[in-house]
Amino acid sequence: MNEMKTANDGISVARDYYDSEEADDFYSKVWGGEDIHIGLYDTTDDIRTASRLTVERMIEKLGPLEGKQIIDLGAGYGGAARVLAGEHGARVTCLNLSEVENRRNRRLNEAAGLSDRISVVDGSFDNLPFPSECFDIAWSQDAILHAPRRDLVLHEVERVLKKGGIFAFTDPMQADAPKDAAALQPIYDRIHLPDLASIGLYRKTLKRLGFEELEVEELTHQLGRHYGRVREVMLERQEELGLDDAFVDRMGEGLGHWVKGAAEGNLAWAIMVFRKPGA
Ligand SMILES: C[S@@+](CC[C@H](N)C(=O)[O-])C[C@H]1O[C@@H](n2cnc3c(N)ncnc32)[C@H](O)[C@@H]1O
Repeated sequence: MNEMKTANDGISVARDYYDSEEADDFYSKVWGGEDIHIGLYDTTDDIRTASRLTVERMIEKLGPLEGKQIIDLGAGYGGAARVLAGEHGARVTCLNLSEVENRRNRRLNEAAGLSDRISVVDGSFDNLPFPSECFDIAWSQDAILHAPRRDLVLHEVERVLKKGGIFAFTDPMQADAPKDAAALQPIYDRIHLPDLASIGLYRKTLKRLGFEELEVEELTHQLGRHYGRVREVMLERQEELGLDDAFVDRMGEGLGHWVKGAAEGNLAWAIMVFRKPGA
């Protein structure tokens, strides 16, 4: 599908996708269990370990987290929240569109004894059900790419952060100057949106909102490695996991576009940390 979607259409596409049984099955079993984001593969080939390393790398950039109020935008199964709350003493609000994922998130929090430190809220990150200036940190991993209006998400981040609050996030993006812009079309088609963000777009929009850039660590090579590794594991475990042929073909093709896009200089991925101006 290639037509421009309205914001609400785009949001229902993401919700229907993440709520579907086959996506839930795939992400919970192949992608690493509790995390659905790009991993760091310098020291491991294991998706779960690599995904956890990304969470740890982001945490290293944030300083002490004990008692901090954190919102995780597009929290998936809440893997990062359990590290932030369970190992670092933060209080985390997971805001996520998919009720299927949110149910699994709540079950995992209960099992980990963290339900009193993590709350899971059904909602969309372009219209946050929270008052202004109530979080110390806004956190998001590989989720804002699904927003039809990324500017609204960034406005909401600015609104709910306290003065001096930190926005730490990752997102699969297009390169600022893609080598072959036309090659991005199959990726846009997969997410049913007309484009991806870019590092330049985030810099520009956040600057306009008054944020100060603290760090942008570009790690685009990890994007290609991650999607390639997910494709390999999916094919290795297809039979054991009972994954349907049509789903595997479709997903394999989709993952291939990301791998190729990264190799050909059309994509970008980074850990980005910005600060809202202080009091
Ligand atoms: C690739 S997953 C990442 C999940 C999680 N951040 C992680 O790293 O494990 C993308 C997530 O974005 C969420 N999402 C997509 N559109 C959203 C929206 N409009 N509001 C809130 N969450 C959204 C999906 O439900 C999904 O959990």
